[in-house]
Amino acid sequence: MANAWDADLISGGASSSEYKGRPIGIGLIGTGGIAQSVHLPAYKKLQDEGKVRIVALCDIKPNKLAEANAKFGPAQTYENYEELLANPEVEAVDVCTPNYMHMPPVVAAFEAGKHVICEKPIAIDSKQGQLMVAAAQKAGKKFQVGLNMRFGAGPQAIKRLVDAGKLGEIYYARAQAIRRRGVPMWGVFTEKDKQGGGPLIDIGVHILDMSLWLMGHPKPVSVSGTAATKFGHRTGHINLFGQPWDPNNFTVEDFASGYVKFENGASLVLESSFVLNNDRERFETSLYGTEGGVFLDLHNDDNTRIYTEEAGTLFDSQPVFLPGVATHEQEIRSYVQSIIDDKAVAVPGEQALMVSTILDALYESSDTGREVRF
Ligand SMILES: NC(=O)c1ccc[n+]([C@@H]2O[C@H](COP(=O)([O-])OP(=O)(O)OC[C@H]3O[C@@H](n4cnc5c(N)ncnc54)[C@H](O)[C@@H]3O)[C@@H](O)[C@H]2O)c1
Repeated sequence: MANAWDADLISGGASSSEYKGRPIGIGLIGTGGIAQSVHLPAYKKLQDEGKVRIVALCDIKPNKLAEANAKFGPAQTYENYEELLANPEVEAVDVCTPNYMHMPPVVAAFEAGKHVICEKPIAIDSKQGQLMVAAAQKAGKKFQVGLNMRFGAGPQAIKRLVDAGKLGEIYYARAQAIRRRGVPMWGVFTEKDKQGGGPLIDIGVHILDMSLWLMGHPKPVSVSGTAATKFGHRTGHINLFGQPWDPNNFTVEDFASGYVKFENGASLVLESSFVLNNDRERFETSLYGTEGGVFLDLHNDDNTRIYTEEAGTLFDSQPVFLPGVATHEQEIRSYVQSIIDDKAVAVPGEQALMVSTILDALYESSDTGREVRF
């Protein structure tokens, strides 16, 4: 059987482009932090441009719902996502709920015939992710996942370089999403049952996705790794994200590392932490190819570097100008445009599922002490 992430299974593109020349009805589920800070402001701009209409908002917390409606409405408001999905004016859905609440509304949205963008990670695990991708494929609707970092100017420039063959064969990647002291204290980020995991699933997901995308999504064949909790159960440590974490409500790892091998012979090392005695926060990936290497710092495009050997000389080069990009806004614009133009989404559910499958395998390897082979 083919893997769910095979390119020929990528969902979307089946529907006719019935949306040209009129605003698409948007329904957003989960009007909390990320929705109010970046998703809804992006839709508001697109609404001003006549491309969408914010039709409906949903949250189980009436105060969050009222707050979002006051800022981004007036829209129809719901405390139950099933009711939002029953609204025929909602054509495209945006799911910004916590990870454990990604799969149920996404599957229900596809069953209701809507297009979907869902925040990252795809779900708390790959089993749920598979249900979501299968539902998207069955519905023939667009399914994008919120791996917004791909839209940055640095990553886009490097992707063009890779696609032009400038790195040659990429055979190794080193990906780091490391915080020295950065435990998110809002939401459910330290609760395994609601979040699916710790830094690996929260921020490791971005850097792994970035690396796989730049590598051209080679098929993984094996994963080994370790997930550890060395600080989460302790008290008295600094947390640069404000208040201290609650050691009694810390059921995720605070550090993870893994090693992935791919069918084409390439390999990748992944490191991720909420707490680590490291110099500083790092959101970085290095790719090593037969013709060149690159370094990407996702917090600072100016640190982008390209390493080559040309005409008997070793060169370090860097882009002279990269425009600042609001990556979340760009991701929403891209989602909406893919619906209008009836073209494939930029971050398909299938690729987010591949990320989730690797992360699941890393956790499994940590639990069993063995390499996981696909
Ligand atoms: N891409 C990024 O940069 C980025 C950044 C932050 C968060 N996120 C992702 O966004 C998601 C939400 O994170 P957040 O920080 O906004 O969390 P949050 O807790 O601030 O917001 C989530 C909201 O969902 C609501 N909710 C929960 N269950 C619901 C349900 N059944 N129906 C309707 N609403 C429901 C909550 O009441 C809350 O208001 C997570 O999956 C997270 O990984 C992504």
